This record gives sequence, structure tokens and C-alpha cells, in this order.
Amino acid sequence: MREFKLAPFGNLSAASVEAHLGLYKGYVEQTEAVLKQLRDATVPQAATAALTPRETLARRLSFEGNGARLHELFFEQFEAPGEGNNGTFSTAVSQRFGSFQAWQDDILELGKTRGPGWVLTCFEARSGLVDNYWIDLHEFGLPADSAVLYVVDLWEHAYWTDYGAKGRDHYMRDLLAHSNWEISAKRYQEAWRRAA
Ligand SMILES: [Fe+2]
Repeated sequence: MREFKLAPFGNLSAASVEAHLGLYKGYVEQTEAVLKQLRDATVPQAATAALTPRETLARRLSFEGNGARLHELFFEQFEAPGEGNNGTFSTAVSQRFGSFQAWQDDILELGKTRGPGWVLTCFEARSGLVDNYWIDLHEFGLPADSAVLYVVDLWEHAYWTDYGAKGRDHYMRDLLAHSNWEISAKRYQEAWRRAA
């Protein structure tokens, strides 16, 4: 489990940041519980009505595991808000969207998608493709073999308390205004290094 030093910003309150970190802890614990069961030789591999089937655990692993990892990628972006030069990341997304502003506009547009999930900016080094994706829950829609460069949590727990039911746009604008772009730039550079 990772520790994050997060200060509230925008409308986000200290209480909701604390609650969000607690929720992340739950995903880490659930991931560990699923992994423990998967490694337990006594867990039956065939589904029966009475016993937990192997398939259920496999599905739970991507839900819980991604829930933990996506929150880590998310929190990491706000530990030093506003710091960092966005030159490298800006150049990366501008190749696809035309400008850093146009990339942000697309994030805001995708963020209107109904349902709980995430907006992700991903980079596939093999093709050089940078694009934005909507991820349902934590696991549906993730592009394969891609690095995650930027993450927006759009589950209701992330904004409802401080921004209200119709506050998604305001919440996302606060996130964009307080992101440390150096984090996204490092993820982009790391993806290139790994692909080389
Ligand atoms: Fe969350």
C-alpha cells in the first residue's frame, strides 16, 4: 500500500480526500485477499453452486487490482499540485489533439460519459498512439499494451460530496488546474524507454 501526501484543493475538502484514501486502502486489501485466494490450492478450480469459482476470482482481480492501481496513478498527480513543466506531456498530447488546451477539452467532454469510471490518457509506444479513453468501472475499455499517462477518477465518491451531483465539470477543471504535469511527462518518457 502506498502513502500519499495530499492537500485539499479547489472545492475538495480534507474530509473527502481522507475518505478517498480510505477507499483506496480497501481496494489494496481486497486485491490482496483475492490474490491470497487465487494462490490457495484448496480453492476449487471448477465452479459449483456452493463454492467460489476460479472465474469469479479472476474477474475480481482485475476489478480490485485496477481499482488500487488507478487510484495510485490518480493520487500521484496531485501530491505536488501545479509543480512541473508541462512541456513534454503537452507536446505528446498536442500531436494527437492539436494543442494542450484541445486535449483538456477532450478530457472534459469524455468526462460527461454517464456511469462510474475513469477518463484515461494512454500511450502505446509501439504505434506512438496517444489517445483518451473512457473506462467503465475500473477495467472495461483499458487499451492493451499501453502506458497510462493521465487519470481522472469519475466515480461519484470522487466529487459528489464537494461538488454535488452536477459538479463533474467543475471538479475536472479543478483537477486539471492542480495537476503536476511532470508526473505525466515521466510516465510518457518511461514508456518510450521500456519500448526501446
Ligand atoms: Fe476513487
